[in-house]
Amino acid sequence: MRVSTTLPDRTAVVTIPAEGHGRRVAALRETIHQITDAVIDTGKFHYGPQTERLEDTLSHVWGGHAVATTSCTQALVLALEAAGTRPGDEVIVPAATFAATAFAVAGLGAVPVIVDVTESTLTLCPKAMEAAVTDRTRAVIPVHLHGHMADMPAINQVAARHGLAVIEDCAQAPGASLQGRAAGTWGDFGCFSFWVGKNIGGLDDAGAILTTTPERAGQLRQLTDMGRDRGERHLHHVRGHRARLGEVNAGILTAELGLLPSWTERRNTIARRYTAAFAELPVETPVVQDGHVHAFYKYALGCEDIAALTDHLANAGIEAERVYPYLLPDQPAFEKIAHRSHVTERSDAATGRLCLPAYPELTDAEVDHVIAAVIAFYTGS
Ligand SMILES: Cc1ncc(COP(=O)(O)O)c(C=O)c1O
Repeated sequence: MRVSTTLPDRTAVVTIPAEGHGRRVAALRETIHQITDAVIDTGKFHYGPQTERLEDTLSHVWGGHAVATTSCTQALVLALEAAGTRPGDEVIVPAATFAATAFAVAGLGAVPVIVDVTESTLTLCPKAMEAAVTDRTRAVIPVHLHGHMADMPAINQVAARHGLAVIEDCAQAPGASLQGRAAGTWGDFGCFSFWVGKNIGGLDDAGAILTTTPERAGQLRQLTDMGRDRGERHLHHVRGHRARLGEVNAGILTAELGLLPSWTERRNTIARRYTAAFAELPVETPVVQDGHVHAFYKYALGCEDIAALTDHLANAGIEAERVYPYLLPDQPAFEKIAHRSHVTERSDAATGRLCLPAYPELTDAEVDHVIAAVIAFYTGS
């Protein structure tokens, strides 16, 4: 294992948690109660008006054809299946991501082929991708890590040259776009996580897929419903999944989609304040490349001495977290998962990031407190 972690001092009182979803859900309490009442009133708990409205709104706001499902992990499995992935096929994934990106591939008996990320955005390197293509490669899964989109124009070009399906892992990218085009609409499939802790989230796990045609959306929707016929529920056309989103979560997500632009703006405002304040410190601040809107799911600061900074922040009541401390090939799980790794030291940059609280629910005073605490660590003042 290349990296080791030191646990922060857990006895310190956390006043600024690493993630803000507890605050968000509490603030939406009334709305959630109203949605829950509306669902109880209709007596329809899946595939009802709330899900229909969510799918319509996602398609309208981001583009493509949307299918609601239970998580991003499930969305990735459905997209891989719809792309025709078979056991033994190879699927290219980046080294720096949540394990689900590769687990979805391995779960289908396909082989995750793990490649380097770029040092700037920590997203899939198109050159490393092309170097890993073989005649068994079926698909590629670029991950929009921390909310900054991968280089989709270059990735799409490589994919087109080799006939690969492109499945965007947009778990961290609701609100992100490139050249005005939303994350999830660049590939053949865009898989979103709406887990409660993401930029928008239901009350627990939730997700969605954007795809390019109504026919593909219909195929995916059928896969979410055990492969069933829409009109005849005891007729199963294909081996499907139990992957339908509940109506309450669908209603909450539609309400949050209306708030997402202002939340994304607030995340960006906080990120700009951090980046300006840390300009003179020996740290690497996250880049926002030209043409991109960064969703800032995470504000990931590159720094030496992560353990000491984490402890220092914990003592100031601030919870900060490494995302992700381990590259995929360094995860113990991959000792038993058939995979191929082309990962070099280039991707190590991704493990040295400490994520500061940067969610919309932070008050300006809390942002000031985080800034002051980071500056104090480096300057002693
Ligand atoms: C990059 C990435 N991919 C996939 C997932 C899986 O999402 P879910 O928890 O909705 O299954 C996550 C969730 O953290 C993620 O961050």
